[in-house]
Amino acid sequence: MTFPYTRMRRMRKHDFSRRLMREHRLTADDLIYPMFILEGEQVREAVPSMPNIERVSIDFLLEEAKELVELGIPTVALFPVIAADKKSLLAEEAYNPDGLVQRAVRALKQAFPELGVLTDVALDPYTTHGQDGIIDDDGYVLNDVTVDTLVKQALSHAQAGADVVAPSDMMDGRIGEIREELETEGFINTLIMAYAAKYASAYYGPFRDAIGSSGNLGKGNKFTYQIDPANSNEAIREVMLDLDEGADMVMVKPGLPYLDIVRRVKSELEVPTFAYQVSGEYAMHMAAFEKGWLDKDSVMMESLLAFKRAGADGILTYFAKDAARLLKG
Ligand code: PBG
Repeated sequence: MTFPYTRMRRMRKHDFSRRLMREHRLTADDLIYPMFILEGEQVREAVPSMPNIERVSIDFLLEEAKELVELGIPTVALFPVIAADKKSLLAEEAYNPDGLVQRAVRALKQAFPELGVLTDVALDPYTTHGQDGIIDDDGYVLNDVTVDTLVKQALSHAQAGADVVAPSDMMDGRIGEIREELETEGFINTLIMAYAAKYASAYYGPFRDAIGSSGNLGKGNKFTYQIDPANSNEAIREVMLDLDEGADMVMVKPGLPYLDIVRRVKSELEVPTFAYQVSGEYAMHMAAFEKGWLDKDSVMMESLLAFKRAGADGILTYFAKDAARLLKG
């Protein structure tokens, strides 16, 4: 009989003992802030399904970046809104050295060299059909020709000064090809964060609205390259392959509904592990906050702490600024 010798509530009674036994902590260092960028000057547009999130032109991006640095957020992730007339079947705009992302990276690195800049490597903002790769006549995304284009895209990001390139396309073999190209071209310290375990999730809906690819994608889906939400071992295998091919960090995506995968990756592979609390997760939280059904600050912080407990080293989250502000007090 352990009771009353063991009383679990003893340690919970005081603030000092609760603090002493606290296992995980969220800090601003854990946060990566995803931002949507568009062409123009002094432009900012609301994203209806993502309250408080905007698409901004590069000048406003720089203003926000200043705030991120002041808040101690180490990294920003960029996602472009590409004008319809720049989209094509072969997504050539993806590797335009003077494209929107490439210019944004150069501007950011010049103004805030200490802020980490992460770019998304995938073709969906650039294709007329909204798929992440180049398709054949049946609409099937072709792996190897897509990888050739992703390599060009990743190199153009590195040349612009990106610190981290993050392939989110789920083509086979792309990490190895990108790593080889970066080495050959002298970008030996450009980091690769692989969206390694990226699921074919319905939680990406608001993101596709934000970058304007949902109209192009229509009723299309990404089942032939993203992972089936029913699978777990397959995610581990994807992560192992990406590590083998030269990824420095791996990511699990979406976030909260896939914390079991985050935990497995961290426990089984013991590598830098990141999670993406995606647009749909943000949207559903915000909807409940706006209705007054959940308390924003406490639920937001609890949701982020859950990632740390599951083993994530960092979190891509649209709450990054709000959380960092709260942490600053
Ligand atoms: C594109 C990409 C997506 C997200 C990040 N990069 C969407 C998709 O795969 O359709 C989703 C991010 C989010 O929902 O917040 N390759």
